[in-house]
Amino acid sequence: MGHKADELLALIFKHVTKIASIHDPDRLLPQVAEMGRDIVKADRCSVWLLDQENKTLRTKVADGVDSIIIPAYSGIVGEAIREGKSKIINDVYSHQSFNRDVDDETGYKTSTMMVIPVHNSNDEVVGAIQVINKKGKNGFSKEDLKHLMLASTYVAESIESSLLLQEIDATQRELVYIMGVTGESRSKETGNHVKRVAEYSRLLAELYGLSKEECNILKDASPMHDLGKIAIPDAVLNKPGRFNEEERRIMDTHAELGYNILKGSERTLLKAASIVAYQHHEKYNGTGYPNQLKGEEIHIYGRITALADVFDALGSDRVYKKAWDDERIFKLFREERGEHFDPKLIDLFFENIDKFLEIRAQFKDTYHGE
Ligand code: C2E
Ligand code: SIN
Ligand code: SIN
Ligand code: FE
Ligand code: FE
Repeated sequence: MGHKADELLALIFKHVTKIASIHDPDRLLPQVAEMGRDIVKADRCSVWLLDQENKTLRTKVADGVDSIIIPAYSGIVGEAIREGKSKIINDVYSHQSFNRDVDDETGYKTSTMMVIPVHNSNDEVVGAIQVINKKGKNGFSKEDLKHLMLASTYVAESIESSLLLQEIDATQRELVYIMGVTGESRSKETGNHVKRVAEYSRLLAELYGLSKEECNILKDASPMHDLGKIAIPDAVLNKPGRFNEEERRIMDTHAELGYNILKGSERTLLKAASIVAYQHHEKYNGTGYPNQLKGEEIHIYGRITALADVFDALGSDRVYKKAWDDERIFKLFREERGEHFDPKLIDLFFENIDKFLEIRAQFKDTYHGE
């Protein structure tokens, strides 16, 4: 039996309000699937997203489980997407485009299926909702189709905006990375410096116990620590030798310069980057620059990036110095425990030294700056 109209509306309302507050596609898909299952009383529901570029369909059965990816235009779902038409198939095994492989593998028997394509606001197909095995004796009805289509028009917008947000997020991360590489590339350091600093920073953040989200933010933000170097004159930046006092003074402004470039943004990632740019040359004992912050006055992002940056700088050739060997680096780190660097971070560094060396080996420089 179908739902009464008011029950159905209540059901749709319940799901749509939940769905509207979810911005992450990976959490959205299982939630929309739950709605599909409830509305037509099906045993299973999958929401498929079309990836035009790779000609695949992707679904997420539950949060935290890997995505399932299938070819875009095969099977019954593929047929519905290609034709832009809904399908009700109540004798699945006799349908010629049904692919039995999944059933054979999982032991789950599909007998009835309904698929509706989901359109975006430009009326392009962006995916499909597939429900499997109607509960009770009868298969899916025209009425079920109508109900699912009604519900899907409400969620199509959520799906679209979540995909858009994901796109914006990815674009933002990419831009930030490119800006980091740009900051480094004017000084003759390789792009691998920013990659290594990113990975060391994430590792330290994890070891320190920051949340997974913060670890990822810092990983993406730390490559921007030297963004301010783009405003440092070439004669200073690439001087093939030690600085005099005046040159040192000019170079020291790079921390605040980077901060000034980034500080106006409200974006989480750029905010984190502004902290990193501002504080990565502060020292734990209060003798760093530009603000002589001390101890935990220095944001944890700043304390972490300081260690990651110096570890990488010392181990690399620079226009003004040769790379140090590891023993010399370790000796300095031991001496600077609680001086330049947060003692807790130095301890974590030595306790996990293998992991740091592994990152360094993985992102080895293929050429040297000078
Ligand atoms: P960088 O080369 O990426 O170095 C980052 C930080 O690593 C330095 O921050 C410093 O804390 C540490 N470090 C790097 N090389 C050495 C070293 O030989 N000995 C010691 N004890 N520490 C080292 P710092 O000093 O604030 O420098 C910031 C940036 O200024 C450097 O980034 C580099 O781009 C530039 N720089 C610093 N000194 C000189 C110099 O004498 N000549 C030139 N051409 N550039 C310099
Ligand atoms: C599936 O359920 O994995 C897709 C099967 C089909 O559309 O034929
Ligand atoms: C890059 O940043 O993608 C280039 C890395 C490199 O320096 O090899
Ligand atoms: Fe710096
Ligand atoms: Fe650096």
